[in-house]
Amino acid sequence: MPARSALRFSSRLTALLAGVMLAGAALAHGDVTPQAVDTHELPSLGDGWRDQNPFRGNDTAIKIGSSAYNQNCARCHGLEAISGGIAPDLR
Ligand code: HEC
Repeated sequence: MPARSALRFSSRLTALLAGVMLAGAALAHGDVTPQAVDTHELPSLGDGWRDQNPFRGNDTAIKIGSSAYNQNCARCHGLEAISGGIAPDLR
């Protein structure tokens, strides 16, 4: 294979591999529809930027968030965000 065509082949291969890797990253969470999360019990946050988590210590928010995590994330990331190795540990 002449040098110029080998170079063209190797740059195409590099582009293909980069595309496959990017697709893998983008599709890591798959083509899934998350379970709906009912947040109607939570207070409205308004438009202003918050410096602190407004739900810290809010038992209702913690209950809703735990339920949402358990329904949507725990099967891969583990209960309490402690991974068994199939997906990254989220702690
Ligand atoms: C079907 C399995 C699966 C489910 C369900 C899932 N994840 Fe993931 N998640 C993964 C995998 C696999 C990765 C690693 C992807 C990678 O490294 O490219 C990942 C990566 C992540 C990362 C990046 C972690 C890091 O260290 O880079 C976060 C944050 C994350 N997931 C949050 C969530 C949340 C929040 C949910 C629920 C709403 C969720 N995931 C549901 C499989 C899953």
